[in-house]
Amino acid sequence: MSQVAIVGGGLMGVGIAQVFASAGHAVRVFEPLEQVRRTVRQRAADSLQAIGADASAVDRIETPVDLASTVAAAVFVTEAAPEKLELKRSIFAQLVERAPRSAILASNTSVIPISRIAAGLDTADRIVGTHWWNPAPLIPLVEVIQAARTSPATIATTMQLLRNVGKRPAHVKKDTAGFVANRLQHALWREAIAMIADGICDAATLDECVKSSFGLRLPVLGPLENADLVGLDLTLDIHRTIIPELDRHAGPHEFLAAQVDAGKLGFKTGEGFRSWTDTEMKALRERLTKHLLAARTISTSSPATSLRSAPPA
Ligand SMILES: NC(=O)c1ccc[n+]([C@@H]2O[C@H](COP(=O)([O-])OP(=O)(O)OC[C@H]3O[C@@H](n4cnc5c(N)ncnc54)[C@H](O)[C@@H]3O)[C@@H](O)[C@H]2O)c1
Repeated sequence: MSQVAIVGGGLMGVGIAQVFASAGHAVRVFEPLEQVRRTVRQRAADSLQAIGADASAVDRIETPVDLASTVAAAVFVTEAAPEKLELKRSIFAQLVERAPRSAILASNTSVIPISRIAAGLDTADRIVGTHWWNPAPLIPLVEVIQAARTSPATIATTMQLLRNVGKRPAHVKKDTAGFVANRLQHALWREAIAMIADGICDAATLDECVKSSFGLRLPVLGPLENADLVGLDLTLDIHRTIIPELDRHAGPHEFLAAQVDAGKLGFKTGEGFRSWTDTEMKALRERLTKHLLAARTISTSSPATSLRSAPPA
């Protein structure tokens, strides 16, 4: 199997490395921090074991100490470094120089438009977004983002590679911030934070309202399927009342900024929108893994396809 390279051996880098290694690829991970680099293979092994997969896949993961040897023979490179535009731009400038000319260069950015990362770089036809979700081994979707200069061949090869490693790639034809799924997710979070700030309910109640209602339907009923199901006439009537009421902050809500200023970062500090004991945090993580493992075997939604009806490339 061909060699793939991952740039950044943090949470996502290790998860993505694990997926490629499990599918039989030789994987090289570049992680600049020595103390983190030392843990890459063990974290992949632990994760493989936790999901009941063959931990020997970790034998296919190497962790070179420099970027050049990590990418020298790669056919596909995934950048999973921190979400900072200038850092990603400097990494891609190096990748263009150091990876083989035929290699595809993908960014796992959460929300940054790929064109901003590729701006000014040669061979941008081979630069693409591949937005994986955490935990990468258990979430099927990878959004494949076509930037203005990304070639159709790059998209086709990337989609096929991801299918071959067991993912459900979705072709996003417009390079918009947040792509599709994060745009939707953060539209929901924006409203949730505004409601808490407004005292409409507490955080636990808000989460319960989601989990006990439309959250239950989401795995089999997307929002637009749901609108079709109830009728667009009803949807229009509902929107006439609700849309003017929704939060309109043009930036992050001041309530969120105040929480961060007060050191309330969530699990990292034991308090965010709610307080968390160690036992509660561990239990929530375990519930999530158990749920995703079960969902993997009973998935009923149709395969992801093209997400925007644009003219064929
Ligand atoms: N965490 C998530 O749920 C999630 C989901 C999807 C996408 N992403 C995106 O994936 C990317 C990585 O996120 P993460 O959660 O794995 O972060 P992370 O902090 O766990 O890992 C990033 C790693 O990159 C390393 N790094 C720093 N500078 C580097 C450089 N110059 N070259 C190579 N590596 C470098 C860091 O040492 C760190 O180990 C970000 O763009 C993030 O937005 C994250």
